[in-house]
Amino acid sequence: VDSLKGKDLLTLFDYSKEEIEDLIDLAVDLKKLTKAGKCPPLLAGKTLGMIFEKHSTRTRISFEVGMKQLGGNGMFMHARDLQIGRGESVYDTGHVLSGYLDGIMIRANSHEMVKELAEHATIPVINGLTDIYHPCQALADILTIHEVKGYTKGLKIAYIGDGNNVAHSLVIAAANMGMHIAVATPEGYEADEQIIEKAKAIALQNGGSLFVSNDPIEAAVNADVIYTDVWTSMGQEEEAKKRLADFKQFQINDALVANAKSDYMFLHCLPAHREEEVATSVIDGPNSYIFQQAENRLHAQKAVLASLMA
Ligand code: CP
Ligand code: NVA
Repeated sequence: VDSLKGKDLLTLFDYSKEEIEDLIDLAVDLKKLTKAGKCPPLLAGKTLGMIFEKHSTRTRISFEVGMKQLGGNGMFMHARDLQIGRGESVYDTGHVLSGYLDGIMIRANSHEMVKELAEHATIPVINGLTDIYHPCQALADILTIHEVKGYTKGLKIAYIGDGNNVAHSLVIAAANMGMHIAVATPEGYEADEQIIEKAKAIALQNGGSLFVSNDPIEAAVNADVIYTDVWTSMGQEEEAKKRLADFKQFQINDALVANAKSDYMFLHCLPAHREEEVATSVIDGPNSYIFQQAENRLHAQKAVLASLMA
């Protein structure tokens, strides 16, 4: 995707509908080529630095493997081992890393910090999850819906759960695809209002819609896709007990999915907690695409890496 060369990926708000669609198309191509053992070495000799302030399985491994498959190198760094973990400035870190690396992927506590890093780094910075956004996840989610349903425009997607980073990026991506989006959260756990308003405008522009409520059933009615995430995100562990109680009515279980279309897809970014946010019968049932979705992190991110860094 030529227009993305040298750009950052901090939030999908910075990308046009065409750019997101082109990334999905490129991901489809790269997935096919990779499965045929013919992934082109578009990033030969390039190194992606991968900084983590939080745990990760999918993000870490899919970025590292993705770089390798594209002929380059992914370098894992835990933030606490870097000098930034003992107070070196983001300004200096951004400048120094730009001298060694061709791109940075960062999973951070604060989106503000990632923005600051991107400001001072002269190489592309990719958001691997912050407190507000998880754009790489949303690209993999759209890719998965596209693969399973054959299209995305006009489909109804219900996000039921915490109005968190995953929810924010999902609604932005789905809005660009012209999907009909329903977000249901418990009171007090709503998604960010400004993000919802901006995403709603994008959805309307593309023939879709966006609707928020505190009613999981209303959201699930007639849905083509039902999506949830954990009730307690990384860093919120001390709220876990209260959240378990507050989210009780929002579990994705057989009774709730009975409201959706019979061929609905269940998606979850993972990691999941069976019998908390989702019943085992749903997440391990025939409508669940969670492992295809997890694999698609690799393919979607390779499209991002190739577009930003080649
Ligand atoms: N979905 C996701 O980002 O998973 P990890 O936390 O394992 O990277
Ligand atoms: N909302 C979760 C997503 C994990 C991939 C978190 O931030 O922990």
